[in-house]
This record gives sequence, C-alpha cells and structure tokens, in this order.
Amino acid sequence: MLRMLSTLVGGLLVMIQSAQAAPNAASATVAVESPDKTIEVVFELRDGVPTYSVSRLGKPVVSSSTLGFRLRRGPALDSDFELAASTETSTDQTWTQPWGEQRLIRDHHNQLHIELVDKSGSSRRLEITFRVFNDGVGFRYHIPEQPGLDKVEIDDEVTEFALTGDHRAWWIPAYEPNRYEYRYTDSPLSKTFKVHTPITFETANRTYLSIHEAALTDFASMTLYRTQGTTYQADLVPWSDGVRVRGTAPMTSPWRMIQIADSPGGLIESNLILNLNEPCQLEDVSWIKPGKYVGIWWEMHLGKATWGSGPKHGATTENTRKYIDFAAKHGFDGVLVEGWNIGWDGDWIANGDKFRFAKPYPDYDLAGLADYARGRGVRLIGHHETAGGIENYERQLDEAFALCQKLGIRAVKSGYVAHGRNIKRTDENGKVHLEWHHGQYMVRHYRKVIETAARHHVMLNVHEPIKATGIRRTFPNMMTREGACGQEFNAWGGDLRNHPDHTTILPFTRLLGGPMDFTPGIFDLLFEGYQGNNRVSTTLAKQLALYVVLYSPLHMAADLPENYEARPEPFQFIKDVPTDWETTEVLNACIGDYVTIARKDRNSDDWYVGSITDEHAREHEVELSFLDPGRAYVAEIYRDADDADWDTNPYAITIESNPVTATTTLPLELAPGGGTAVRIRAAGDSAQ
Ligand code: NOJ
Repeated sequence: MLRMLSTLVGGLLVMIQSAQAAPNAASATVAVESPDKTIEVVFELRDGVPTYSVSRLGKPVVSSSTLGFRLRRGPALDSDFELAASTETSTDQTWTQPWGEQRLIRDHHNQLHIELVDKSGSSRRLEITFRVFNDGVGFRYHIPEQPGLDKVEIDDEVTEFALTGDHRAWWIPAYEPNRYEYRYTDSPLSKTFKVHTPITFETANRTYLSIHEAALTDFASMTLYRTQGTTYQADLVPWSDGVRVRGTAPMTSPWRMIQIADSPGGLIESNLILNLNEPCQLEDVSWIKPGKYVGIWWEMHLGKATWGSGPKHGATTENTRKYIDFAAKHGFDGVLVEGWNIGWDGDWIANGDKFRFAKPYPDYDLAGLADYARGRGVRLIGHHETAGGIENYERQLDEAFALCQKLGIRAVKSGYVAHGRNIKRTDENGKVHLEWHHGQYMVRHYRKVIETAARHHVMLNVHEPIKATGIRRTFPNMMTREGACGQEFNAWGGDLRNHPDHTTILPFTRLLGGPMDFTPGIFDLLFEGYQGNNRVSTTLAKQLALYVVLYSPLHMAADLPENYEARPEPFQFIKDVPTDWETTEVLNACIGDYVTIARKDRNSDDWYVGSITDEHAREHEVELSFLDPGRAYVAEIYRDADDADWDTNPYAITIESNPVTATTTLPLELAPGGGTAVRIRAAGDSAQ
C-alpha cells in the first residue's frame, strides 16, 4: 500500500509517503535521499537484522552497519525483526536562532521512519528514524511502550559506523582522567581505539566526515570503539554497575550524526546538529544576551592570586571593584569572579562537598558588588565550581540560582573538576558509587542545572561539561562551555600546553558540537615571572583572530586589566568584536594547518574576519565578495608584523586601515603561530 499526501503548514512543507511492508518482510530495503540527492541512506533488514549504509554521490561513506540495542533483561533489540512499516516525510523550514553564529537556519531534510516488529509475533518492537540533509545524516532509535519493557536497561548499543577506508582522523581518547581535555591526535583511524566524539575524518578523495551525536538529554554519552579494521561501534559510557542507559519505554535515543562535506569549511558551516535538536522550550528568551566579559580568573591560573582565602585571595571586594570599573570603562557586560564562595580552602578538588553556593567569603561583599556592578551597567558573573560534588551542588541548586536572580547575576560559570570516573552517587540504601563524568547520571545532572538556571533566568557557561550536542537550541540559556584544552593550559600545562596548531583543529572537532569558552585575548604572552616553563604559543594578532575563529556567545577578555591598558591599540579589536552573528562563512581551511572565517555582525552592517595558522607562516588572498556590492567599507586590520613569530617575536603587530569593497582581494600574511583579525566597517558606521 502506498499513500502520499502533501500539506503546507505555516511555511513548513511536509510531504508524507508511507509504505506498508509485505508480511514476513524479514529482509527488506528502503532508501532515502537528501533533498539535493547527493547523500543516500539505505536501511536494510538482513534476515531480521537492522542495518544501514550511507553513500555520497554514489560512493560509499558508511558501508553496511548494524543497528539496535542489547538489553540487560529481555530479548535483544538488534535481530529477528520484520519490517512493519516505513514512512517518508520531507521538511523545509527556516527558523531563527535567538543568538548564534547564524541567525536564520534552514532545516531541509527527508525523513525515513522505520517500524520493526518481532518476526515470530511477540510484542517486541523498535523504531528507527533517519533524517537525510544535504550536509549529513542523523538517525535515532525509539523504543515504544511494550509489555515487559516498562523498565529498560541498555547493556549495549550495537550501532556501527563501518567507514570505508583508513581515513585521516583528528581525535581525543575516551575514558581518560582528564575528560575531554587532551590534545587532538592527527593519525590514520586505524591508530584509534576508544575515542570521544566529535571525531573528524578526511578520506583519500577529500571528503570530510565527522561523527557525533545530537540532543543528548537523558542517555549516556556515546564514545566510539574501533572494533575491527575501519569499523567503529557506539560505546555508551556506563553506570557504575555496567548498565549503559536506564529508562522506561517509550524512550528515544539521541541522534547519531554523520556530517558529510566536500571541504573542511563545510563542516563548520553545517547546522545539522542544531536541526536535530528540539525547538526552543523557553517562552521568553529576552533575558538571554550574548556578550563579553572580564574576570578574576587568569590571575589564579598564573598563581598571582588564590581561589582560597588568605593574603593572595583574588575575590576581594576591592579587587572586584577594580574589575567592574575596568569593564564599565571598556564596555564589557560581565565580570566573572572565581573563588568568591566558601569551600576553596585546602584541597578543593578533593573536597567538592564543602562548596557553599550562597555563602561568600567574608572579604567579598556579594550584594554590595552586585549593586555596584549594576549601577555601572555591568553584571557580576557567578561561579559554581562543584569539583564533581554533585549531591552537594544539587542540594543547593535552587537556592544558588535564586540568589543569582535576586542579585541580578545573569550568568553563571560552572566547573566540574573531577577525574574521569570519580563522581560520587549515593543510592537509596546509602551505598556510594563512583560514576563516570560522561555517563547518564551526569547527563541528567547537567540537564537539571540548565532547567533550574532557566527558571531563574540565568545563562550558563559550563566548564568540564558534558560535550555540546546542540541543546542550546532547546535551552538557549546554555550558552557556551569548555570541553577541550582551553587557554588555561597555557598558564600551567608545561609540555601539555597548547601548540600553535591546537586552535586550527578545534573548529573542525570540538566546536562542531557548539560554542566554546576558550577564553582568548592573552596579551602578556610570556608572563615572565609566573609559572616557569609556560607561555602562550601564539602571536598577539592570533589572540585577536581567535575571537572570530572560535565561536562563543560569551567571550572572555582573559588577561589582566593592566595588560590591556598597556596595549590599548590591539585591545580596541576585543572591544569592537561582537559575539552574535547574522551569518558565517569559511573563506579557507585546512584542518590542523589554517582557517579563515568571516562573520557578519547581527546588529550592524560590519563584517569581521579571523584568520589563524599553525606553526607555519602562510600567505592567503581572500575575496571580500560577501560584502554588499557597491558599498564602501574600511578594513581595520590587526596583523602580524613582518618580523613576527610566535616563538621569537610574538608581540610584533601591525595595525592599519584600508578602504575595501566587495571586489577587493585582501592579502593575509600570517607569521608562524600567527593570525590576522579584521573589522570591516561599513561606511557610515562610526569608528567606535
Ligand atoms: C577549571 C576551569 O576550566 C577553570 O576555568 C576554572 O578556573 C577552574 N576549574 C576552577 O573552577
């Protein structure tokens, strides 16, 4: 039986085509293509076993790969099925992000929904939905309500990603103590074992793939395990008893996602992850505002101040006033203050249950400072370091966020410094279990925090987070997160500090999940006198370019105020650069070598360009054809001076202004470890 209907509801075109399979179809094949017909997914039931494959332009990208789950109790959901029904629908709609790197997002895809039933007639059922976009594929499972499955315990997810060659891969290891904070390795995929997602690949014929997940809300994080050759299997981070996921049918998995592009920049320009998330659940988002902040932070990482109380305590009333004045003078929205609350004294990493989230240190006048900041047009940014003491934090969650709301603190940075599998959970019998940082227990916790913060109108910036999977679409108060080696590694990482190529990999890996609070903008690159064998391995101009290249709706100017006051000219770029964009274009890119990104300000006609390189000098020419034709602009260029070099001459910067139009070709000359940042000011805009 074949049915087709097509409706137009509020600009959303939905076409439905459904097929009822022939009875006893234990072998069946159904295919679905992307709207532009370049990508095809084939679902195949092979003698009762559900499988899928993906091809692009007729060439295999993922060859036949298994689907399904094994359960702790009850029969597996990975075989002995027959196809009950398959339904195809098409969607083409455009939606608006409240903030982001792109205002309007087109969601254009074809969907194939598969319903499987037990082939011998028992009540066992599984549904799988595929969505095929022009830039990749998403699929997810739905376990419908069925007898015997009110309690679901997933022992294993058997989803495979059988890649078709020993592709070049950029990856970080999973199940390691430092969560996602590892340097990316660039190797053939055959050198990987257990890896986090997003993991990004370049095939021999220069197709770019990235495997990740979208909408991780009440499930375990998916890592990947290379089972053999070039095949990965989903490896869900388990609970302490080995069960991977607990739930009650009906239940739906996150989307398994494969981005596919013919250039590295295509991966960055893709909105697949956002399109696979649920629309915004908050009715009022008017209180959510991207912006830039400074804070009492870098001085602790340098060792100049301490989080804990004592003579070097950073979060004092006096020091915070200094930062508030600095923020007000230079137009920053927020002042982050770490170490403001009781709990930091002693070994804070080991004592997560000592933190008090509504109790300031005596030398920190929280209410007075919140008032002082507000009076100067600035807001304090709260800080909740939990050190993984989840139960302690959850007990105080409402009180902590209610306090923020009362004081007009509109954003909180949180932290979860705890080693890989060291999160204490007490069960109903009082027994303590140690959970992984990325298991379902923590996924639930992070979701609870997002919802609590939203109720109190607080935006979040999460460090040591669960990886970004696009939840910001559903909860736009989930602004940004760390989740990779950030700037702080340069303060104390020693040999583990970020190499010049690190930020040329992040946009193609970690940032495919979503914004990152990298905290750019260190001007005192060598910070001599602090912390021995440490420094920032970039030029000064590259620090500026990172504001454009690494997207974050909340960007920090991370250095100490005196270091900005010592260099007012380059500081102007940090003051000017927006954090909310109308549109984004990648002008050139080679993963791990260089990347140049242009973004248009959402609130003016200005464009910004950021270009960075690894340890090699580069010369590029970029066309400014994205500018309005016929309009005059002035390019304010912050570039590496001719003799700049991250290693030997990092501070040498040249700042110049040139008239440009849409027909201009802009030369970019990047020093080793360098970069260029450009504000392209539309004529008529005042230069402020
Ligand atoms: C780790 C975070 O990444 C860092 O930014 C913060 O300063 C410390 N934890 C303390 O919370």
